[in-house]
Amino acid sequence: MDIGVITPSNSTEGSETKDIISAIRKSGNTPVPINIQNIVVKIGRGGVVPHCLSEFTKESRIDLDCAVFRHIGIINDYEQFGQRIWAVRSMEMNGMRTVNNILSWVRASDKLGTLMELSAHGIRVPQTMSGESFFSGYAAVKEFGSAVVKPLRSGKGLGVFKVDDPDVAMHIFSYFTNLSKPIYVQKYLDKVGGGDYRVVVVGGGVIGAEYRKGTGWKSNVAQGAKARAVKPSAELSELAIKAAEAMGLDYAGVDIAETKGGYFVLETNPTVAWAAFKKTTGINPAEHIVRHAIRRSRL
Ligand SMILES: Nc1ncnc2c1ncn2[C@@H]1O[C@H](COP(=O)(O)OP(=O)(O)O)[C@@H](O)[C@H]1O
Ligand SMILES: [Mg+2]
Repeated sequence: MDIGVITPSNSTEGSETKDIISAIRKSGNTPVPINIQNIVVKIGRGGVVPHCLSEFTKESRIDLDCAVFRHIGIINDYEQFGQRIWAVRSMEMNGMRTVNNILSWVRASDKLGTLMELSAHGIRVPQTMSGESFFSGYAAVKEFGSAVVKPLRSGKGLGVFKVDDPDVAMHIFSYFTNLSKPIYVQKYLDKVGGGDYRVVVVGGGVIGAEYRKGTGWKSNVAQGAKARAVKPSAELSELAIKAAEAMGLDYAGVDIAETKGGYFVLETNPTVAWAAFKKTTGINPAEHIVRHAIRRSRL
């Protein structure tokens, strides 16, 4: 069987895609790399038909049973965002099973969309405010006492900062509004042990987990946090599985903070950079993801 691997050409990841391609080959199937920028959607008498552009004007119809989706790439324009999302959707509309499916990926790659969905499913998340008014931002920091401000779409802990003084926050937020940036403010959680858990879920089961702890309050490995493999408790596993399921994700890196008052889900990363996880746990998520994609394609 041919199995698609959807990535952008300007992808910042490398080793994960290579792992997926090797896992597909190991499973006895053929990897078909698809550059998301080369997908051409044609709508006509035959309905919605996805094509792939190869050299110059050569276009061939894409007809795959399943694909592993990674990322839409760096987006420079709002319309480009739409093009890439619907390009993947056009393949799904033609019967291709994507793991993760594009609409779930879009929601999970946005911090506000994620927390809204998790909360609606009864999953505990940090108290959060998101809006476009610096007055609301000011009020939220005042209410939370100690607050964390985040970009809606980011990763690796970049641009995530802590603020305790509502006046300082308001000043910063006024620049946000001038730049049309939303203001996303969250209550700071006092974490037991200072770090958080990363539980990797594939196909409704936990494949492995690690505990990550940095020198400061952020636990991103990209920010120097050290990871160690852990055996997650039944409660932690159930929570991670429930979170991935609530988000409609076939695979996810679920970040969970533990406080004296219990667990809180921080994120359900739908792309999952697993180079560090693989080293720490000896588990290769790519093999699980590919096995799951094959299972899904036969449903
Ligand atoms: N509300 C919070 N309270 C305490 N620490 C937090 C909170 N939110 C995030 N963090 C810490 O900051 C890190 C980065 O935040 P996160 O929301 O995961 O953004 P990113 O997508 O950049 O990883 C997390 O790994 C976590 O350790
Ligand atoms: Mg994170």
